[in-house]
Amino acid sequence: MKQLDLAIVLAAGEGTRMKSKLPKVLHQIAGRPIVDHVINAIAPLQAQELRVVIGAGRELVEEHIHLQFPATTIVIQEQRNGTGHAVQVALEGAAEIGTVLILAGDTPLLTAPTLQEFFDLHTALGVDSSVLTAVVPDPFGYGRIVRGEDEELSAIVEERDADSLEREIDEINTGVYLFNIAALRSALAGLKSANAAGEFYLTDVFALIKAAGQSATAILSSDFTETLGANDRSQLADCAAIMRDRINQSHMRSGVSIIDPTTTWIELGVEIAPDVTIYPGSALSGATRVEGGAVIGPRTTLEDVVVGEGAKIIESRVSKSVVGAAANVGPFAFIRPGTILAAGAKVGAYVEIKNSTIGEGSKVPHLSYVGDATIGSGTNIGAATIFVNYDGVEKHQTKIGDDVRIGSDTMLIAPVTVGDGAYTAAGSVITEDVPAGSIGVARAKQRNVLGWVLRKRAGSKSAESARKAGASDGSTKVQGEA
Ligand code: UD1
Ligand code: CA
Repeated sequence: MKQLDLAIVLAAGEGTRMKSKLPKVLHQIAGRPIVDHVINAIAPLQAQELRVVIGAGRELVEEHIHLQFPATTIVIQEQRNGTGHAVQVALEGAAEIGTVLILAGDTPLLTAPTLQEFFDLHTALGVDSSVLTAVVPDPFGYGRIVRGEDEELSAIVEERDADSLEREIDEINTGVYLFNIAALRSALAGLKSANAAGEFYLTDVFALIKAAGQSATAILSSDFTETLGANDRSQLADCAAIMRDRINQSHMRSGVSIIDPTTTWIELGVEIAPDVTIYPGSALSGATRVEGGAVIGPRTTLEDVVVGEGAKIIESRVSKSVVGAAANVGPFAFIRPGTILAAGAKVGAYVEIKNSTIGEGSKVPHLSYVGDATIGSGTNIGAATIFVNYDGVEKHQTKIGDDVRIGSDTMLIAPVTVGDGAYTAAGSVITEDVPAGSIGVARAKQRNVLGWVLRKRAGSKSAESARKAGASDGSTKVQGEA
């Protein structure tokens, strides 16, 4: 089978329309820089060499590509003299013969099957050059495909150089090309910059190739959305929405229920088993994996989270954590990195958990903060309990055993340990370990000063109600004191 000898990604443009400190090709779609999508689409074609042309001073892009795609050759185009010039620079020291694929670094929606199909057709036709074209609703700004009387490609004319008849053509140049490298090299040598932009246009090589008696063909693609470019923030959002729909479609086809695909954002690489249900307004990102039967959302954000079978996470934010099978989270829980919820654990409303393990079937149902703790199985943490893990300088650990009952509004001053089967009294400030089977009581004993309101708040509504209830101001007795 014929093979691709070289692939070139053109990414030296300034991306000025993005109005950003970040280079255009590093802006993200579905959790990955635009240029990654392009390179990933090329990868299955297994080109002998991949070259990426970047502009001078683009260290961020260079660094990123080195890190993410170490096998790639980076070529620096010192001066931005046009796409033809960029390819000239890219070909220095590259293969002399064979086939080269050239495309722009700002078209994140191109797919490998489309590129493969383009390559296969180009190869089957046995031509020297091919451009991938598309018929678009609004061709403004694109190079137009001018076909001769034989319907064959005769030239590509840029918007700025086109006459009024040419501007009516709705078949455009997608910026994806295949060339016989030797034919391309000689055509590039003949490029002129006598055009509206004063640049060397790569698109002019087709006319030169034909003039040299070699063949050029235009191949129409079936889906124009694949070739959309992300040149500004609005196009970036358009591309992101198309990518979102594609990702959601593929999950739905494999058995995931997505109630509202327009408000569900799932990054590439997220794994979701069949029979998971995702409610509106949810976002799943990074290395997230969700097992079958789990229910996510509405309005839930998961970043690098493993969710076990049948778990439910409602209106919550979870990052870098594990939610065990059949565990229940939310609404309104905030689960921070390093948290492990074992099977059947429950984390309820307004609970924040950080770097802690909650054992099987244990519950933190309401209004608590759990930090740097290990909690055994079958334990209940009463409402509004705070794990006081920070002494102002360092963080400390709390250890809670199995089948413990922590009373509501307990302060657990770490480091501290509560043994298996122990209790704490509600409202306790626990500074000492509580041995297994004991109850830790650490709060002031209550005293009632009888008649206080009648004496000190005489004439108030409270005093009036108290009097009706039979209270008298005569006594100064204090209940609860010896
Ligand atoms: C280009 C095509 C146009 C086509 C369109 C498809 C030319 C002359 N025009 O126009 O026919 O319809 O793409 O999207 O090629 N670049 C460099 N170095 C340069 C100039 C550009 O690396 O000196 C890179 C850019 O980063 C970009 C790509 O080449 O990734 C295309 O350049 P751009 O300026 O975006 O060209 P368009 O005006 O979109
Ligand atoms: Ca462009």
